[in-house]
Amino acid sequence: MAPPYKVNKEKLTKDLSDLGIQKGSILMVHSSLSSIGIVEGGANTVVDSLLSLLGKDGTLIVPTFTYPADYPDSKNPDWIFDPVRTHSGMGSITNAARKRPDAFRSIHLWHSVAAIGPLAKTIVNSGTTSAWDSESPMSSAFRNGAWILMLGVPYLNLTAIHVWEVELKVDYRQDYDVYRRLRQEDGSIVQLVSTVHDRKDDHPGSDFNRFGERLESIGKVQLGVVGNAVARLFKAEDAYNLAKTMYFEDQRCFLKQTDPVTELKYGKTIQNKKGIQCVIDTDKIYTTDKTLS
Ligand SMILES: CC(C)(COP(=O)(O)OP(=O)(O)OC[C@H]1O[C@@H](n2cnc3c(N)ncnc32)[C@H](O)[C@@H]1OP(=O)(O)O)[C@@H](O)C(=O)NCCC(=O)NCCS
Repeated sequence: MAPPYKVNKEKLTKDLSDLGIQKGSILMVHSSLSSIGIVEGGANTVVDSLLSLLGKDGTLIVPTFTYPADYPDSKNPDWIFDPVRTHSGMGSITNAARKRPDAFRSIHLWHSVAAIGPLAKTIVNSGTTSAWDSESPMSSAFRNGAWILMLGVPYLNLTAIHVWEVELKVDYRQDYDVYRRLRQEDGSIVQLVSTVHDRKDDHPGSDFNRFGERLESIGKVQLGVVGNAVARLFKAEDAYNLAKTMYFEDQRCFLKQTDPVTELKYGKTIQNKKGIQCVIDTDKIYTTDKTLS
């Protein structure tokens, strides 16, 4: 077995820069820290690298979702969403980002995001109770020219598709409001209303890898390697245009049509105890086995 890949901030920043992250851009990142290898300084180093490449005019956005799988208590109407304290279930890089003093977090029972940068406050304070409608933080970022980075994770994690499913009014989702509680900055507790766009009972499951393979086939993805992680960078606008094309060809294009879902051709896709990862060498992901390092 090969030793895990060791990556410091310099190497990480070079790999991310080679991939094509541009200064001053808006960037939404879905990530897996361990897919990269052993990162010196951990998740905070990844956030530092991303922020240094984006520069003072760029804005970083991460999903800070709080699904019932991670928060079984959130099924309880008395559950309190605390934007400052409630951990993100979307990985350690997202928690490192949301804890930065200059980070802002949107308000939603399940689908909040955190953002850092000049557009962060505007993006998160969307004023809608939905996380995916046309006024939502993600929608507003995508409309303003955002890029999306899948860092060591497959297209299955591409939440943008849900935003476009809502816009395209897919017939396999239903909208309703969910009521919980929210801790405000001054400590007071108020009602939290979150609009959700839930799967209908006959939803067969999603396959966004199928979409991603097609996006790659038309040359719209900057495909590369960050440490040992497969990294995919693309413009939300290009992905949105393809989403519309595919939907008008087939209204069930984002749904599972094969079992298992579409296999990604580049790199290796593996399942660890927490989620699915895209890596170059399965032996080189992070391990706690000290005899290897
Ligand atoms: C679930 C998911 C986050 C798991 O990825 P992961 O790499 O196993 O976990 P994290 O990114 O949280 O990183 C923490 C892990 O990195 C590893 N790690 C610890 N220190 C590390 C370091 N210095 N360098 C690298 N890895 C390290 C450990 O395995 C740690 O797990 P532990 O906390 O259980 O010990 C990932 O597979 C995923 O799905 N990410 C995308 C989420 C998303 O955006 N979803 C959108 C909606 S579907």
